[in-house]
Amino acid sequence: MKRREFLLGSGAAAGALGLGGFGLAQGTSELTIQPASFALRDTVTTGMVSLSPNAPPPVLYGKQGEVMRLPVRNTLSEYTAIHWHGMRIANNMDGVPYLTQMPLGEGEVFNYEFTPPDAGTYWYHPHCMTMEQMAHGLTGVMVIAEPEDPGFDSEQVINLRDFRLDEDGAFLPAYTQRGAARAGTFGNVHTANWVQGPVYDHAAGSLVRLRVVNTDTTRIYKLHLEGGDARIIAWDGHPLEINIPMPNTDEPLLVGPGQRVDFAVAMRGDEGRSVALMAKLPGQPHKLMAQLRAIGPSASRDLQELRPLPVNPVAKPDLTNAELHEFVFGWTPEGGEPNNGFCGSLGYNFWSINRNPWPGDAAQGVGPLATLEIGKSYVLRLRNESPNLHPIHLHGLAFVPLRSNLRQLPPLMTDTMLLLKDEVVEIALVADNPGDWAFHCHVIEHQKTGLTGFIRVV
Ligand code: C2O
Ligand code: CU
Ligand code: CU
Repeated sequence: MKRREFLLGSGAAAGALGLGGFGLAQGTSELTIQPASFALRDTVTTGMVSLSPNAPPPVLYGKQGEVMRLPVRNTLSEYTAIHWHGMRIANNMDGVPYLTQMPLGEGEVFNYEFTPPDAGTYWYHPHCMTMEQMAHGLTGVMVIAEPEDPGFDSEQVINLRDFRLDEDGAFLPAYTQRGAARAGTFGNVHTANWVQGPVYDHAAGSLVRLRVVNTDTTRIYKLHLEGGDARIIAWDGHPLEINIPMPNTDEPLLVGPGQRVDFAVAMRGDEGRSVALMAKLPGQPHKLMAQLRAIGPSASRDLQELRPLPVNPVAKPDLTNAELHEFVFGWTPEGGEPNNGFCGSLGYNFWSINRNPWPGDAAQGVGPLATLEIGKSYVLRLRNESPNLHPIHLHGLAFVPLRSNLRQLPPLMTDTMLLLKDEVVEIALVADNPGDWAFHCHVIEHQKTGLTGFIRVV
């Protein structure tokens, strides 16, 4: 998307501008969850879920500190609820069925309304029928602009995700019992904005803000950029306050489901040359996920011209007085029957937090995993006692990793911590947003088979 369009999109307060030019004027339209079709392969795939009949869910644009009104209408015959991933907003707008709202039935509308406290790259997805609706397409990106223009010439949003299709482009089952009990079930068609290896034109020699979002249900992407000068400027929505090295072929960047990375990219000065976003997929050479192609005469800009992004107003934890809470993520001792109410069950439990599998979305009388006092600082020790990786996500709050038993962790503010095999990570936060906040693995098969719960802030 070119700068002019971007300004148009973000300038209309709480307006939205989609990948295909989809527009939503404030108060006049709704986000309508509906069936969709799209040519993900050579043939058209039907049975998808989106917000328009023939396009991916649009990028939703907002501005830091300005109210967003997002009425969501469900036209599907199954239930849903929409969650705004990474946004530190009021609990009753968080979109978690049975915890913060009732699931939305067919024909029902829920008026989501909130004011993003932070600028950056976020995303949205259903939190009811999560596995089916996400696997069939319902994952979109949110861009919250800084109040002041950070000085890029244009922006490019890349929504990375897989689809699991047969040869004819029809959906295969979104999950398997075998996958759910291990690393998850992987898709086989790798897309950026629902397209395989799209090419986006941007002015030669210009500065592009590249926002990469992993909205997949399972895959941990291993990414690097090729063919141009770039640096990482934000991670999981929040501007970097330190420099971290650019990933490369040998040391790619691990981006788990739910995670985001923003790059400042200097486009090639020579017309036609590209900067490529590459992914390492198991058993394959590096795959080209998307390209930024230089067009026109060179704007001759330099990354040095960019000022650092303004830091988001996230409170810094006071580590000297922080109370410690421990969480263990692993297999479940005995898989109880989940009860997901109207929100879709995978039928079994394989995973647990603190050795208890979550009994399901509609579980009544199940207490919080921890109760935190409003305004206080906490350290959470997250222990993965399984051989599988888990992107552990906390709603409503941002946290910072302190240390790991396996690696040096840069102190990057986040909402999703990717735990490696047998890793123990300590994170710190200020419990400054009241409510019941979902706390779960973002490999959806793990989430839906026990690896979820909630943390209460009062
Ligand atoms: Cu992105 Cu509870 O989710
Ligand atoms: Cu979330
Ligand atoms: Cu997991």
